[in-house]
Amino acid sequence: MHTLKLIVREVRQESPLIRSFRLESADGGVLPAYSPGAHIKVQVPGLHDPRNYSLINTGSEPFGAPAQYRLGVRLEENSQGGSRYMHALKVGEVITAQGPANEFPLADHPGSTVLIAGGIGITPIASMAASLASKGSHYTLHYSGRSRSQLAFVDALRALAGDRLVIHADDDPDSAFHLDALLDAAPAGEHVYVCGPKGLIDAVIAGAKARDWDSRRVHFELFTAAVPQAGDGAFEVDLKQSGKVFTIPADKTILEVLEEAGCDPMYDCKRGECGVCQATVLEGTPDHRDYYLSEAEKAKGNVIQICVSRAKSGRLVLDL
Ligand code: FES
Repeated sequence: MHTLKLIVREVRQESPLIRSFRLESADGGVLPAYSPGAHIKVQVPGLHDPRNYSLINTGSEPFGAPAQYRLGVRLEENSQGGSRYMHALKVGEVITAQGPANEFPLADHPGSTVLIAGGIGITPIASMAASLASKGSHYTLHYSGRSRSQLAFVDALRALAGDRLVIHADDDPDSAFHLDALLDAAPAGEHVYVCGPKGLIDAVIAGAKARDWDSRRVHFELFTAAVPQAGDGAFEVDLKQSGKVFTIPADKTILEVLEEAGCDPMYDCKRGECGVCQATVLEGTPDHRDYYLSEAEKAKGNVIQICVSRAKSGRLVLDL
């Protein structure tokens, strides 16, 4: 990955909560190439972890040797600082980032593609639409949000995708998103890419599974980290190697507790997707909440992704 110094050339309010940022190399010249679905990791002053923001491309910029990057960032109500920092940026300021990297690439497959975006999940999905359009590939783009006014980039997407763009707004019953009908009508071999909130991703995964789709046809990227669920309680984690014991409260993950205690666990995505934080379970029953393990691996219960998963038993002993 490259270390990038990027100067903010333009800030636009795209919807009440979403701003876009046009960034150029602070040193001049072209920026590293990227592929649809890629993101950059923006360093936020005062925060330990960088924040990942997908590169949005609605067809106006080449993916190879681009003169600019564009980001779309939603101001999060419970922002830990990342989106607040981004929304405070002014034209002329310089930010530091690493990248680009891509954990949500378009696969090379024949046939058609369904793209599904929920809210700010449109950013990588729009880039996929631009790439598919440039190749003349067949795709449809479903874009959903709480209301029409909260959907950003609609004009650019309409110019890019025309009738292939289908808008769904929760406050407009006529535009309701019928996922089951969409999956029922999917041609054999069609791939689906979904980005947005966990509920949307879980619904697509469950719908594809119920129809016996090969899991390789379903691609997703979650835009939120671990979210507490109703009924979550505290449990104990015993680290076999170090002999340390921690209580994991309902509102924190194992990874967060270990970090706060000064341990140095490995991790990357913090969304249960990459597998980097995996630990071996020596005792206890994990409550798997990740998207990394297969159902069979989850059933074995001998490994856990500590960034999102919890415990069904009162105590877990991990080989850490
Ligand atoms: S850090 Fe990626 S699965 Fe936990």
